[in-house]
Amino acid sequence: MTKLFLLAALPLLLFNGCSQSTHQENITDEPLSLKAAFRDNFHIGTALNKSQINEAIPEAATLIQKEFNSITAENMMKWMHIQPATDTFNFELSDKFVELGEKNDMFIIGHTLVWHSQLAPWANEIKDREEMIGHLQNHISTIVGRYKGRVNGWDVLNEALNEDGSLRNSIFLQLFGEEYIKAAFELAAEADPEAELYYNDYNLCNPAKREGAIELVKKLQASGTRIDGVGIQAHWNLNHPSLEEIEKSILDYAALGVKVMFTEMDVTVIPNPWDLQGADVDQNLEGSEFMNPYTEGLPDSVQTQLAKRYEDIFKLFLKHENKITRVTFWGVNDGQSWKNNWPIKGRTSYPLLFDREYKPKMAYHSVMDLKEEKIH
Ligand code: G3I
Repeated sequence: MTKLFLLAALPLLLFNGCSQSTHQENITDEPLSLKAAFRDNFHIGTALNKSQINEAIPEAATLIQKEFNSITAENMMKWMHIQPATDTFNFELSDKFVELGEKNDMFIIGHTLVWHSQLAPWANEIKDREEMIGHLQNHISTIVGRYKGRVNGWDVLNEALNEDGSLRNSIFLQLFGEEYIKAAFELAAEADPEAELYYNDYNLCNPAKREGAIELVKKLQASGTRIDGVGIQAHWNLNHPSLEEIEKSILDYAALGVKVMFTEMDVTVIPNPWDLQGADVDQNLEGSEFMNPYTEGLPDSVQTQLAKRYEDIFKLFLKHENKITRVTFWGVNDGQSWKNNWPIKGRTSYPLLFDREYKPKMAYHSVMDLKEEKIH
């Protein structure tokens, strides 16, 4: 790190005619970026929506380029968007997404090939095994093939587990049987042998679900099918999951020989009386003033708790940086986070590191302060 720091600073020292004290300020005090600060540890990613891919808001575009070195397609690669009608693919936005990533030299994540949710209506009407096999093959081969050598990693399979660790009774399981999982990974590997292939899910730090995910990975490995990583969707809150369960999860998944990544990070501070965890998109509940307490801004006391929670989590990530390859935030700033609309629509949520004006929050600084040297 020190060598890199000196190399990065050298041109500035040789070239710039400013006073010594100005150099010092530039080198040590200037707040840099997440991607620079963590560049020797893991990728720092964000999920992009349509407006961000179109670079419609200049503040967002600048922030994305400055802070992140990995991007994930938040919605536009989901089945209902990318193959809205049988064998009719809509690549307009996903092409732009990949071009944006390439332009900025980012690690590009395709999300997601096989997911029971956000399926196109026609896909929900698939009737039998043979038909399902054909459509899975066409879907995966067409999409992964199109971006061969350009998309670096795919969330091949998303949310295939129940909370008790058993397999979700999705249309894929019903029609194809358990082998659909192996088939999905093999089709993706065939279409792009170089791309990393992941299993991605929420609540993967909960013991029962974690066991289920470990079983899933082991079965793939035992059958000679490649799986490169487990994506732990970090839709968390101030207390859950505990640092102990997060650490155990990092160690247990890494012990399988796969990469560990935190893929959909956000930390909720607004109330949730149903104590919902994870991210079941079918849940949506009626709101009330009590349930939406911070419409005028986040009080300092809560801001501090959020900053401390992010600090503790990133401290743990750094402790296990040799096992973790990526930390991706689920969104760029608080204003566009999905958490404003889940599990109750229209609330004011504060789950990310940047506020509604694209300014870094206290939580951003608590994460950045963990790095001794901040690289230009
Ligand atoms: O684009 C339409 C807009 O035209 C319409 O006016 C509006 C009305 O509600 O809906 C808009 O679409 C919404 C879309 O997000 C874009 O904002 C959908 O209703 C809404 O269901 C969709 O939610 C997405 C959700 O997945 C379901 O696909 C969230 O943005 C997205 O963050 C979320 O991401 C998932 C991951 O893919 C998997 N893990 C859980 C995570 C959170 O649910």
